[in-house]
Order: sequence, then C-alpha cells, then structure tokens
Amino acid sequence: MEVLKKVYLCTFGCQMNEHDSERVRDLFLKEGYSVVNEVDEADVVLFNTCSVRRHAEERAYGMVGRLKDLKEKRPWMIIGILGCMAEAEKDEIFKKLPHVDFLCGPADLDAVIDIVNRIRQGAGRIMRLGGYKTRRLPKFSKDRYTDKNAYVKIMEGCNNFCSYCIVPYVRGPERSRPLDEILDEIDCLIDNGVKQITLLGQNVNSYGKDLKKGTDFVGLLESVDRLIQRRSQQKKSDIIKVDFITSHPKDAGINLFKAMADLKSISKKLHLPMQSGSNRILKRMDRGYTIERYTKLVGEFRRIVKDAILTTDIIVGFPGEREEDFEKTMEVLKDIRFDAAYIFKYSPRPFTKASLRYKDDVSKEEKERRHRLLLDMQKKISLYRLRFQSATCPQI
Ligand code: 5AD
Ligand code: SF4
Repeated sequence: MEVLKKVYLCTFGCQMNEHDSERVRDLFLKEGYSVVNEVDEADVVLFNTCSVRRHAEERAYGMVGRLKDLKEKRPWMIIGILGCMAEAEKDEIFKKLPHVDFLCGPADLDAVIDIVNRIRQGAGRIMRLGGYKTRRLPKFSKDRYTDKNAYVKIMEGCNNFCSYCIVPYVRGPERSRPLDEILDEIDCLIDNGVKQITLLGQNVNSYGKDLKKGTDFVGLLESVDRLIQRRSQQKKSDIIKVDFITSHPKDAGINLFKAMADLKSISKKLHLPMQSGSNRILKRMDRGYTIERYTKLVGEFRRIVKDAILTTDIIVGFPGEREEDFEKTMEVLKDIRFDAAYIFKYSPRPFTKASLRYKDDVSKEEKERRHRLLLDMQKKISLYRLRFQSATCPQI
C-alpha cells in the first residue's frame, strides 16, 4: 500500500449524495487509495454534506469540528467538505473550521483527486464551487464498482424553486444526461450482475426537458425496459427491477402511471412528496398544485397501478401554518394512507424565498408536537399497510 493513501468518507443526506460518494470512493480506489472506516487512520478525510435542513449542517459542523485535535496529531491529514453544504456555506466553513483544507461543490466532484494532490504540493486552501454553471455532468466510468443494487443518475438540479428549498441554489438548474449514456451505464451494470437499479434525479419527471425534442421520462422508462427485457432473455436471468426518485406531483400523470403498470421491469413504487394538506400552505410553498389535484392524482395512480407502493414527504411548521392547516394535513394523511411518509420540521434555508419573505413563526415546541402527531399516526398506517397491503383499513 502506498503511503498517505488512506481515505475516510462520511456521507449525509439523500440517495443522490450516497451515489456521489460512491463515485468519489471509486475515484480514490482508482488512484490506489484504500478506504478506511476509522477516521484516525485516514490521510484524507471527506464529508459529503447535506444542506436541506439546518440540522444536517449542524451535525457536519460538529463532526468536523471535533477533528481539530486529530489534525494536530496528523498534520499531513487533508480534510475536505464536499457536496451541498460546501456550496451553501462557502467561506463560513473556512472561517468556522480553520483545519478544513478544501471545499468541493456537488458538480465539481470529479476534481477531488486533483484538489488533494494540489494541496499536497502546497497550494493552500482550495474552494472549488459552482461547477453546475457550466452545465457539465460528471463522467461515468465503465469499470464502476457495483453491488446487487445500484444508483443511476439521470438528471441533476432543479428548476422548481419551491419556496422552502435550497436545492436549486446548491445543485443548480436541471441538467439531463443523454439517453444513450444512461442506457450504456445500465448495460454495464447488468454485465456486473446488478439486480436492482434506482434512477436518480431531484425531479425525475422533468427528465429530457433540456434535451432534444421528444425525449422525456416515460420514453426513458420504455427504453430502459426494452434493454432489460433483451438482456434478461440473453442471460436467461430474472428481470432486473428499476425504481426512481423523486417525482414532483405537478409533472406526474397518467402516462407515467400507465408505463408503471405496463412495463415489466419498472417497479410499482412512487415517491410523491405532498408537503402539506392545506392549499394556503401549498400556495406559500410555491408547489404548483392544490390538495384536490394531488388527491385526484393519487386516485388515478392507485386505479391504474395495482398493488402499488406510495410514499411521501411532509413539512410541518412552515411559516404561517396554523392549527387548521395542520389538521388538514392530518386529515389528508388519514385519507390517503401512504405506505410511508417522511415528516420534516421546517427549517429556514439561506437564499430561499420562504426564508426571505416569511418569519419562521411556528415555535420549536409546536413543530415538535405536530411532527410527533403525524409520526404516530403514520406509524400505525404504515404498519397496517405492511400487514394487510390494503388502502382501506379501519379509521385510526
Ligand atoms: N425544511 C424542512 N424540510 C425541508 N425539505 C426540503 N426543504 C426543507 C426545509 N427547508 C424536505 C421536503 C423535501 C425533502 C427532501 O426535504 O419535504 O421533499
Ligand atoms: Fe440531497 Fe438536497 Fe440534501 Fe443536497 S440538500 S444532499 S440534494 S437532500
């Protein structure tokens, strides 16, 4: 093993971040590094961070802060902050954490080895941010290490600008990967024995809007399905299953549901963030739909895709959320009976419209109360759905 070639990598946040970390790990493995599980054995320490809520940033600040003494004992150690928080916090990180050597935004991760080498050559602290402005998408490497499950990134960034969300500011505008590149990657994963693929994008239903006319998400699913059918006939193996995250309700519709019902390899799972059951709050969130439209969409989904799994995200304590708004969310959650719901307490994020326009006026205690009530209710619903696979269960 070459000297100074031990890397430690810690990941916060969503599946997109997990996938980005896999890519970073591959880059280091290719350079002859080994991956270590103990931070005090590492020569390079990386945190791939999340900014979606302040809590995740605080945890990262805490963890990196505690490395100060270790760095004094191992002065050659290079510490890097990767991902969304590097974009969101920028100089703030360098100010608060003087032992951090570099920042690297989510669209700049291909440069991470080069950055480490330059720091070793004495370049000083490095900030590599804003890569999304070039609309560049990371290169895909054919000899990627794979498991039975694999992520495939189909697009990055988001143009929706929901009023609470930092993602468009840190991940940039929507960029779709060309269809043939995605199919190539899937083909290669099949060669490597992958059995389950998750297509990733901040808003998968927008796939192709920036590519040549006629390329869209349903078309992509059809092409992926054709490829998988052909390959499983050749290999005489089981069908590989494909799911996808995340879908925005304003872009999901009957065509997508029909594709999910008809295409053998596409799993019948839909993650459809609802965020709130109150129209007043949905409007303040700039979500672009009403709760009536959302529930109608769910009805169509369940009618077309039999035995489907439906999950959602909810935010409690959004600015101006009154008791009656919260009760509407409770009611809708009771009526729809999601298989799972991820429930978050609102946290104001820099750059966002909600943080600039609205006061964070729901108290911490109240956010906690609403969070707990929804969690308790959803837990019962999820258990029931798991046991009986039924949307119609006794009232809870
Ligand atoms: N505060 C709380 N939750 C948020 N989310 C996004 N931004 C915020 C925020 N500022 C939640 C949404 C989204 C999920 C990934 O995180 O529910 O769907
Ligand atoms: Fe993922 Fe969004 Fe968090 Fe970035 S801010 S890691 S895109 S959830």
